[in-house]
Amino acid sequence: MKVLFLNGPNLNLLGQREPEIYGSMKLSDIEDMVREHGERHDVEVVFHQSNHEGELVTQVQQSAGDYDYVILNAAAYTHTSIALKDAIVGAGVKAIEIHLTNIHARESYRQTSIIAQACIGSINGFGAGSYILGLEAAILHNKAND
Ligand code: DQA
Repeated sequence: MKVLFLNGPNLNLLGQREPEIYGSMKLSDIEDMVREHGERHDVEVVFHQSNHEGELVTQVQQSAGDYDYVILNAAAYTHTSIALKDAIVGAGVKAIEIHLTNIHARESYRQTSIIAQACIGSINGFGAGSYILGLEAAILHNKAND
């Protein structure tokens, strides 16, 4: 199985960005942890981060056929991007939404996810653990739908 982790704007700043909210791990630390977990489960993991909405849309489109699942922390685009939601639906990719924080317990503008309706499901609030849980969700979904 092959899984693409797509990370949206400002996630390149993890570790230094509001650590009291997002934790002290850098995105590269999370990537190492997730890749190791993937290896144990025979899952090839590819990580990508972009601050640009169009780049994320292109990545979602190009993932079709190449990846079994896209696990997406769209960051702030979660709450604004009809384009990303349309890309997931249009490309027909199996997507899982993840967030470090519990977006439902935060500011009202973070409590709506536009991409959620295009995803199999959502995991949020477990810090870097949300990435591992996202991968586990893909593994379980793949087994259940084999
Ligand atoms: C986030 C939550 C978003 O609201 C925020 O804009 C982010 C990170 C999270 O992982 O908790 O950048 O997606």
